[in-house]
Amino acid sequence: MLHTKRQKFVANKYSYHGHSIGTMSLMKRPGFNFLDSYQIEAPLDAKAGKEVEKLLSKGDVAAYISEPIIMNLGVEIPTQEYWIIVQNACKKYGTVLIVDEVATGFGRTGKLFASEHYNLKPDIMCLGKALTGGYGALGATIMTEELAKSMEVDFSFYSTFGWHPLNTTATIANIKYLLKNKNSILKNVAEMSKYFSDRLSIMKFKHDPTIRIKGLAIAVEFREAGYAQEIVNKSLKNHLLLSTLTPFIFTIFPPLTIDKNTAEKGLEILENCI
Ligand SMILES: Cc1ncc(COP(=O)(O)O)c(C=O)c1O
Repeated sequence: MLHTKRQKFVANKYSYHGHSIGTMSLMKRPGFNFLDSYQIEAPLDAKAGKEVEKLLSKGDVAAYISEPIIMNLGVEIPTQEYWIIVQNACKKYGTVLIVDEVATGFGRTGKLFASEHYNLKPDIMCLGKALTGGYGALGATIMTEELAKSMEVDFSFYSTFGWHPLNTTATIANIKYLLKNKNSILKNVAEMSKYFSDRLSIMKFKHDPTIRIKGLAIAVEFREAGYAQEIVNKSLKNHLLLSTLTPFIFTIFPPLTIDKNTAEKGLEILENCI
């Protein structure tokens, strides 16, 4: 808003970007209407891309925000066309492109950043979660120099625990580790991704699944409500921690360093719970 002097936003329907008043309004959560926000519905393909383009073409949209691959929609994987259209439209109409890599960043989808799958060059990138490797609590907002200049207003950023020495130390150590071990970690993600994909695709689920996998971001969706929860409950009783996203989807987000034996054990438990 400071940069573009515009008031409108575009986000993906049912997406998740945090619990601040701003993001809750972007996501049109009940009771939060502090921002003027439009919603784009999945599947994120060329048709949806054109819809974004049309909204931006009025020249009054401040920013479009999305995860590059949408973890919070059950690993929704946009088509290449979608991102080409959206990225070009943002440039053409002066809309800030905000890419939320809080969940996808640092290797989750098989690249250091999921933006790399689509050659995205965002104006703003949001980071969190794996930024500290889980050893601290820290998020980061990275932006172009041009945008950063617009933010140089009095009191624009302040947080009691922001830049906390313990968290910044954990972050720096984690980034150093990631940079040093990037190739071996991403190789493991690729190998384990294939292993999960091969095993899940032949599992005899009670209902037909749609399986979406990118790196070690895994979602299994059913048309029947409730079955995903049943699997997650049974798995938990057998010491395997999975998560439901909706009554139709369960997700698996293994550690990026998982070894084949552990993956095999987990998949065996899952197979016994389906
Ligand atoms: C994609 C995405 N963005 C933002 C957030 C919010 O991060 P935080 O809880 O650090 O505010 C989350 C948290 O789950 C997330 O998954």
